[in-house]
Amino acid sequence: MSALTQLYEEINRCQRCPLSKTRTRAVPGNGPEDAEVMFVGEAPGWHEDQQGKPFVGPAGKYLNQLLNSIDLDRDKVYITNIIKSRPAGNRDPLPAEITACHPWLVRQIELIKPKMLVTLGRYSMALFFPGKTIGRIHGQEQWRDGVIYFPMYHPAAALHQQGLRPTIEADMLKIPRLLAEAKGVPEAREEPPQKQLNMF
Ligand code: URA
Repeated sequence: MSALTQLYEEINRCQRCPLSKTRTRAVPGNGPEDAEVMFVGEAPGWHEDQQGKPFVGPAGKYLNQLLNSIDLDRDKVYITNIIKSRPAGNRDPLPAEITACHPWLVRQIELIKPKMLVTLGRYSMALFFPGKTIGRIHGQEQWRDGVIYFPMYHPAAALHQQGLRPTIEADMLKIPRLLAEAKGVPEAREEPPQKQLNMF
């Protein structure tokens, strides 16, 4: 059994927070273990909870369009969320839920070792860019230890506020160049070591 499959089994059995009692299925993540890009969203919605897969509802369809716009095959990227179980009624995740689920995300990042990690939405951004505001830092990459961290608006936000679409689409268009840089000579672009993942 691959390390990723083993991890999914553990996540599917997880009862670290009360969401485990109300979920239909846990939604661990999806994509190949050797993915170069990892997208980290917020929390499963109704569709994801039904299917056990991330970003398969309306926000996922828009994410697919964004990936198509840069010829990035969805099967080649890794997609997950900061919490693996759906909050009832699609409310925002609670700090305790994010904290309880955080070790799973850390293990996913350790396994996948992405060259580029894209945060989708405020909650995911807050884990990697604590204290920052999405309106100020979206679309601006940060290098840490040869990995690019890249904050974007959440696709669902752009579905609700049409005015955000040009922004999220323009940010997406930056990914191919950044990924090429991440695969090339990261040392040349390295900035001094930054604060690592906010581990709570
Ligand atoms: N929104 C998210 O943040 N994640 C999903 O998987 C689906 C919608």
